[in-house]
Amino acid sequence: MLLAAGLFCPVVASADTVTLRMDQINPEEVIMPEIYGQFAEHLGACIYGGLWVGPESPIPNTQGYRNDVLQALRDLKVPVMRWPGGCFADEYHWRDGIGPAKDRPTQVNNNWGGTIEDNSFGTNEFFNLCELLGCEPYLSGNVGSGSVEELAQWVEYITAEDGPMARLRKENGREKPWKLKYLGVGNESWGCGGNFTPEYYSDVYRRYQTYCREFSGNKLYKIASGASDYDYDWTDIVMKKAHSHMHGISLHYYTVTGWNGSKGSATVFTPEDYYWTLGKCLEIEPVIEKHAAIMDKYDEKKRIGLLVDEWGTWWDVEPGTNPGHLYQQNTMRDAMVAALSLNVFQRHTDRVKMTNIAQVANVLQSMVLTRGDKMVLTPTYYVFKMYIPHQGAIPIPLDVTTVRKDVRDGRSVDMLQATASRKDGKITVSLSNVDLDKEMEVAIALGNESKAKNISGNILTAGSIDDYNDFDKPEKVTLKPFSGAKAAKGSIKVKLPAKSIVTLTFEI
Ligand code: AHR
Repeated sequence: MLLAAGLFCPVVASADTVTLRMDQINPEEVIMPEIYGQFAEHLGACIYGGLWVGPESPIPNTQGYRNDVLQALRDLKVPVMRWPGGCFADEYHWRDGIGPAKDRPTQVNNNWGGTIEDNSFGTNEFFNLCELLGCEPYLSGNVGSGSVEELAQWVEYITAEDGPMARLRKENGREKPWKLKYLGVGNESWGCGGNFTPEYYSDVYRRYQTYCREFSGNKLYKIASGASDYDYDWTDIVMKKAHSHMHGISLHYYTVTGWNGSKGSATVFTPEDYYWTLGKCLEIEPVIEKHAAIMDKYDEKKRIGLLVDEWGTWWDVEPGTNPGHLYQQNTMRDAMVAALSLNVFQRHTDRVKMTNIAQVANVLQSMVLTRGDKMVLTPTYYVFKMYIPHQGAIPIPLDVTTVRKDVRDGRSVDMLQATASRKDGKITVSLSNVDLDKEMEVAIALGNESKAKNISGNILTAGSIDDYNDFDKPEKVTLKPFSGAKAAKGSIKVKLPAKSIVTLTFEI
């Protein structure tokens, strides 16, 4: 580890030290708020029951959106929402989801349990939701089973002031166009999105994006469907052939044990499984670095963003639930994965311009779980809440000194994990003690002799790493005020309980 940290701040002699490298700040770098993005797919109860219950529902709602979830997401300051998939996107035909809900055709959701999709949540419902949340919409276009004309007209329907598609939109009750910035041209085009080769996809991408026009002053940020995990060839070929036609390329990386057989329980696991999970989660960092290095070959000025538009934990579904609906619980272990992943993204702001955790409600590593009229906030939700001050801030490079633990499959995990940023004269430091058993005394070295002022903080921890919130115990794992930080000359001393995540904000 970086024992060199002591060189910069000799007054601090703690085994676990975070040194703020204020001298290395690049004021041009920004943690894009979009790094805190969400993903909503027509999958299980993500949309239906999770976000949308319809205006006639007895569940309290605003124009069909459930009030409890709306409020929870407003409190998270969601910057961007990706929709309608995922794999669903490449079988979605947007015309089925406009007009009076009763007249909309149904379809089989072939990817996700064969559930009948009634299309009652469509384009107008999604864009109105984004307006209610004050977030950017991110549309994932159908390339696999759609047509160029269909995608081109969808963009026109959403963004044009005049013309045939604008007239159709107006007939459906929306006079003025919406804004659409983020446009994905296909999803997982190497797999459920069409099983393309990267060479063929590159040509198809170039063709599709040509006809996605910018109407009425709307500016598109066009995103090519990128690689999964370790598929560096995909990035290389798509970048080589299509880089001049894109603003971003995506990457999907799940913290998952494997794609065949059991993925393990979300709630029943050993300490060894826990540390393995963190090792796998942290491997996203070298994966990002390798994809970014390939991008550098074709885009040395770093104009193109790498968008991790699907990430998070993927466990077995909860017993008794539909295997195609990907409903999983969410423990303090998932919260750790969220914190460590966000830390990685904040270290790579030169390339990582957006990420979208999968998914916002009731699917995979979600923010909220709903059952009937009840909702619980997951431990992952609280991490996103704690990290809000980092949105739009300038990242502060760190040196971290700590103990490293070897974990299964030849990986290793540092026991202290951290990220820091500066905004509006305030510094925010987020610390995770991932050790299951040991409290840590952490020194945050400020890099000079000043004493921090106005320290405030909050903490997320649990009695046991497998604790989670459920409908009968919704507040088992919640955010609490933290008072374990003391300012000293040149540093802040923090008592960090085992398996805890703390965010501190202060001035120097
Ligand atoms: O998030 C669930 C699924 O995972 C998405 O639909 C797909 O893109 C990915 O394989």
